[in-house]
Amino acid sequence: MKFKSLINDKLQEAFDKAGIKPDLITVNDASKPEFGDFQYNGIMAVAKKLGHNPRDTALLLADNIHGDMISKIEVAGLGFINIHIDNNWLSSRITDIFKSEDLAIEKDINQKTIVIDYSGPNMAKEMHVGHLRSTIIGDSLANLFEFLGHKVIRQNHIGDWGTQFGMLIAYLEEVHKNDSFDELKNLENFYKLAKKKFDDDLDFADRAREYVVKIQSGDKHCLELWRKFIDISLSHCDEVYEKLAIGLTKDDARAESFYNDLLPAIIKKLEHSGLLQISDGAKCVFLPNREAPLIVQKSDGGYLYASTDLAAIGYRNDVLKADRICYVVDARQSDHFAGVFWTAKESGICNNDARLEHIAFGTMMDKSGKPFKTRDGGTVKLIDLLDEAVIRAKDTIKDRANFSNDEVASLAKIIGIGAVKYSDLSINRESNYIFDWDKMLSFDGNTSLYMQYAYARIQSILKKFAGDISGSVELGSDIEHKLAIMLLSFEDILQKIAHDATPHTITSFLYDLATIFMRFYEQSPILRDDVPNNVKMSRIMLSTVVARTIKKGLEILGIEVVDRL
Ligand code: ARG
Repeated sequence: MKFKSLINDKLQEAFDKAGIKPDLITVNDASKPEFGDFQYNGIMAVAKKLGHNPRDTALLLADNIHGDMISKIEVAGLGFINIHIDNNWLSSRITDIFKSEDLAIEKDINQKTIVIDYSGPNMAKEMHVGHLRSTIIGDSLANLFEFLGHKVIRQNHIGDWGTQFGMLIAYLEEVHKNDSFDELKNLENFYKLAKKKFDDDLDFADRAREYVVKIQSGDKHCLELWRKFIDISLSHCDEVYEKLAIGLTKDDARAESFYNDLLPAIIKKLEHSGLLQISDGAKCVFLPNREAPLIVQKSDGGYLYASTDLAAIGYRNDVLKADRICYVVDARQSDHFAGVFWTAKESGICNNDARLEHIAFGTMMDKSGKPFKTRDGGTVKLIDLLDEAVIRAKDTIKDRANFSNDEVASLAKIIGIGAVKYSDLSINRESNYIFDWDKMLSFDGNTSLYMQYAYARIQSILKKFAGDISGSVELGSDIEHKLAIMLLSFEDILQKIAHDATPHTITSFLYDLATIFMRFYEQSPILRDDVPNNVKMSRIMLSTVVARTIKKGLEILGIEVVDRL
């Protein structure tokens, strides 16, 4: 239920009745319990505009706010309207949620086609931590949009084209011709060896450049080698996606090479739109307020990263019919995307009403604030990092709750991977992110373990009860009231997160919810013999809805829950 919109509607009705037209009506969460549940603090501005006294305006409005969802309206100070939500009304809504599927969250009637461009590893090397954030953030956005009822098209813009492939193929051809491609199992190493030869051996470097031309002109043999190479790299990625439990499949891959045939038409389109200029022999688009142009074709005819991205926008616009395209890519590429988006709109490659967004994120740092590297300064392979997460998770839980070895093994996967995802998603995505094993694998604070523990705790209550649940929710204490308000706000929060593409804010909501639940649980016995049956039922239903909300929130973040911890 869009709870906040309901309250905003009530306020809107009151404004209509009073004949006042404000610019925008939104209530805020009340900052203190004595202010009720929500507060409207826009009166001063409205009254000032109309030349009215704020307090009188507030009183006039307050008189016109009615409805069974509201128990009390107060005018505070010069013109704040405090709104108290009725406990009976709230109780019925939580009962409704308890009885419904998917937390009674409505699918968006305004369904959009949303393309999410995420992960985008480069095929010359193994996946490294540079692609971790995009993969995690992108996947949670995809889950969220899907849950809200949109049509989501995942697109993995894999970097499989470029001059480095000349070098790799030359190395494959000359040094490993008779191998069964086994050497490639360690891609990272293979890349290093090829690069060393490229740097040390001038003849080899020349031949590597010839291979680039051959691949680009469609030489069959070279393309076959290139394909084999890409297939091996892709299987590496799949291994990572599987470990990370990410919803990207081979079908979602639209690698850079996919757009090769579309590139000439893109250049034509830019020519027709009058945007192209030749500068130093290269075809360029000059952008407003920027000195460096967007180069779309080099003087030797070669295309660039930006040309491929323009072709991809064309494809997503014309073929996929996207209403919104989200690029979950490192913040350091923001100039690139600003240039590409402007050009796509200005040239008509993309419809005017389609929304192009760079969902930027900061760099992953180590605990000392330096970019995340291995001890010897190399890039950290993602697969190694994920394996380490599981090993560390095993250590964290092995002494708890008498788990068998099998249980520890399967729990460790869920907990380790969950921790890697949650800690990434728990900070504002645009900030740099400090990767800290101890913090992410802690039971305290805003961590996945804390959430998984809260969930498991509720499951153990439900398991102990194990009877039929009947009756309805009857909210008693203030803390139950507060819990109910939070539960009802979940849909509004998801909608806002979907609009702003800020999946990390789900974690703050979940953390507040779990913290308030723990407080409720401490002060409100549930299964004790002296608790009257109706109260017991009510508390069980409320706890169940909390558990389902935690589960759903984590599921959107791509994290599993566990029943025992
Ligand atoms: N492969 C690119 C990189 O590693 C990321 C691709 C992002 N997507 C895009 N459409 N440019 O930087």
